[in-house]
Amino acid sequence: MRALSIAAGVAALVLAAIAVTVLLPMGDPSLYQPSPGVKPLNELEEMGRQVYIREGCWYCHTQQVRNLSMDVQYYGRVSSPGEYAYDSPVLLGTERTGPDLARIGGVYTDDWHLAHFINPRYVVPASIMPSFSYLSDDELEALIAYVQSLGGEEARRKAEMQRRMKQAMLEAQRLGIEEEMMQARVPASYRGLENPLAGREAVLVGKRLFAFYCRGCHGSAGAGDGPAARYLNPRPANFTSAEFMGSVEDGRLYYSILNGVPGTAMHPFKARLTEQEVWSLVAYLRTLQEE
Ligand code: HEC
Ligand code: HEC
Repeated sequence: MRALSIAAGVAALVLAAIAVTVLLPMGDPSLYQPSPGVKPLNELEEMGRQVYIREGCWYCHTQQVRNLSMDVQYYGRVSSPGEYAYDSPVLLGTERTGPDLARIGGVYTDDWHLAHFINPRYVVPASIMPSFSYLSDDELEALIAYVQSLGGEEARRKAEMQRRMKQAMLEAQRLGIEEEMMQARVPASYRGLENPLAGREAVLVGKRLFAFYCRGCHGSAGAGDGPAARYLNPRPANFTSAEFMGSVEDGRLYYSILNGVPGTAMHPFKARLTEQEVWSLVAYLRTLQEE
């Protein structure tokens, strides 16, 4: 008799919990209202989503910014139900082996993603993400379109801006005015900056950081010929060129490492490196020129 009433009590509790956490929220219309700027995927993006599901990207990647200060600091505002209005099934994910992808659209260029999918270690030397080089060109194109769509209107706008900047860079290259354009990007307040670090110590720190973050694109010796380089356009800078390095100030190198070069695979490092570390890298880059 006693066992029976305990079982009935447990069942009632479970049902009550389900009612409060599942049934009640299902009546909330905001769950089905798309957030402002959230649109259905186009055909290519939808094909990319299918590849994402099939390849198990969601084993390692979430698409939800949690209500935690570390998430909000790094990825921006907390995800809301309306951002998933068109997702079926939703790909929230559980395991955070890799970074959250809810807002990844437009953070990198299309060519960064291509090199990264072919082999993540080409662009992120210490990555444990598997290579997806066996995907067809069409599947890779679709996957990139999908990843660039993550994050709603803002992400699409950023991805489009990257594409426009890339065209502008290539056009400037064609006209031979690339250097002027690169120089004009850098605020005057940075150009005159001098490296506060110098000497062997800084160079050694910079060398270690370069091997960890930069060599996949810029090459082990800094000649702009890392394994990712053949997928990238514009190509990575060549630090062994005395002509190039002679024409750029420390302040510009510092600015470019912190903020990246929009439209190119050179993305900002300011979230990953301290100012000291960036100056160490600048000191190291100065040692790479050939006589
Ligand atoms: C075994 C786990 C694993 C799988 C499977 C995986 N990734 Fe990753 N991914 C990672 C890790 C770890 C990183 C961080 C290092 C790096 O950037 O490569 C990462 C990074 C990324 C990034 C860059 C994120 C950022 O903020 O810099 C993107 C985009 C990405 N993965 C997309 C994908 C896609 C698309 C797939 C499926 C085709 C996939 N990943 C499959 C583990 C994984
Ligand atoms: C994913 C590829 C990639 C990675 C990783 C990368 N770079 Fe770059 N980098 C580029 C490309 C591409 C350019 C060329 C931009 C241009 O000149 O149009 C570039 C340009 C530069 C420039 C020259 C910018 C200027 O003002 O002319 C500097 C300095 C630089 N990178 C430093 C670094 C350092 C230091 C790291 C590591 C912390 C790094 N890069 C990692 C791709 C990369």
